[in-house]
Amino acid sequence: MSGAKNAILPAMAASLLSEGPVEIVGAPLLRDISTFGTLLGILGAEVSRTGNGDGRDTLRIAPGVADKAEAPYDLVKTMRASVLVLGPLLARYGRARISLPGGCAIGERPIDQHLRGLELLGARTALSEGYIEATADRLKGAPVCFDMKTVTGTENLMMAAVLAEGTTVLSNAALEPEVCDLARLLRGMGADIEGEGTDEIVIRGVRSLRGVRHEVMADRIEAATLLLAGAITGGDVTVDGADPFGMGAVLDKLRETGAEVSAVPGGVRVRRAGPIRSVNVKTAPYPGFPTDLQAQFMAYMCLGDGFSIISETIFENRFMHVAELRRMGARIDVSGNTAAVKGVTNLSGAPLMATDLRASASLVLAGLAAAGTTEVLRIYHLDRGYDALERKLRSLGADISRVKE
Ligand code: EPU
Repeated sequence: MSGAKNAILPAMAASLLSEGPVEIVGAPLLRDISTFGTLLGILGAEVSRTGNGDGRDTLRIAPGVADKAEAPYDLVKTMRASVLVLGPLLARYGRARISLPGGCAIGERPIDQHLRGLELLGARTALSEGYIEATADRLKGAPVCFDMKTVTGTENLMMAAVLAEGTTVLSNAALEPEVCDLARLLRGMGADIEGEGTDEIVIRGVRSLRGVRHEVMADRIEAATLLLAGAITGGDVTVDGADPFGMGAVLDKLRETGAEVSAVPGGVRVRRAGPIRSVNVKTAPYPGFPTDLQAQFMAYMCLGDGFSIISETIFENRFMHVAELRRMGARIDVSGNTAAVKGVTNLSGAPLMATDLRASASLVLAGLAAAGTTEVLRIYHLDRGYDALERKLRSLGADISRVKE
């Protein structure tokens, strides 16, 4: 099982805070990771990868001196997570210039909470030519209460606060396991952090941070996607290295659909023999049902034995997969942030267009269960967050291959 993309990207950003090299163990081959590597290169760091490409490579990031402290539009527009360098650059260099990300395929996704938090720590921010320009002398610890749960917002503030003078208390912080993984990494670098995994994180600033070797948490979204592949095809799949901790909401939902789910030594197993029971799903911040699995779960519900109501509460436009699933014969009505899925007995294969990372995975899952052949185009979206998904699915018996578009 590979390390989690959404834990690796913040870990890579955190390396900017360090005086020594940071090693991140468990890195898959993902486009977002290489894009982030390019960004760190622009920021003066030296990034190298060792391993055999089995999804568990080691990234070594040796800090350098950033003469520009700038994340350019070209990179930010392809990967919003670039915004994660804002906190570390400000903390380390007292300045950062980051292209303001625009909207994306799943919603508007503003970063006002990141900016307000950094301002509370003493940063000055201004918008110029589409870029956020932030400066600060040494940041000063302060209480910061987020208006909503934001994962990268919490991470950005944690990374800014670790080198600030004094104590920062982050309230209404995100509880995601990836936030906890970042806290663990930062502690390994010498930071003084407690409370991660609760909604109040306390950070006492230190003068400097050192290099560390960090084994990143397993990717719970990839693991659940593979479990859903087992469930949708009526199979029996064990995902080695999957950590059931952090997957509670999804495993519970899978059980409700009639699948048998069990923690086995070193992994998680799913089996389904009977019909797929339709269940309702509402996405929510952790520990709720993750928005990053909504599209994949919807593909599963397309073959349910009744009605399933799927509500997306995190992003306002994360139903782009619906039109594609309909092309396969799915019966889905959307009203606002709610999709009503009436299960059908069969889906039929079709040429489909991927629109974003998780939507691509949902189309692949639907294709596995559909009669006939499904072609998913624009799979570069898939490669952003899944390392050789087709190879993993093939090893489970799927008839799937990557062909040139
Ligand atoms: N929001 C604001 N203002 C902010 C920040 C967030 O209004 O300043 C809103 C967002 O628009 C959204 C909600 O708050 O409606 C939650 O967004 P959050 O900030 O938590 O999302 P994120 O940090 O940008 C991370 C993941 C996403 C994942 C979300 C939610 C990373 C790199 N990205 O994004 O992952 O969907 O949390 O869990 O960690 C993916 O991997 O496919 C992916 C999109």
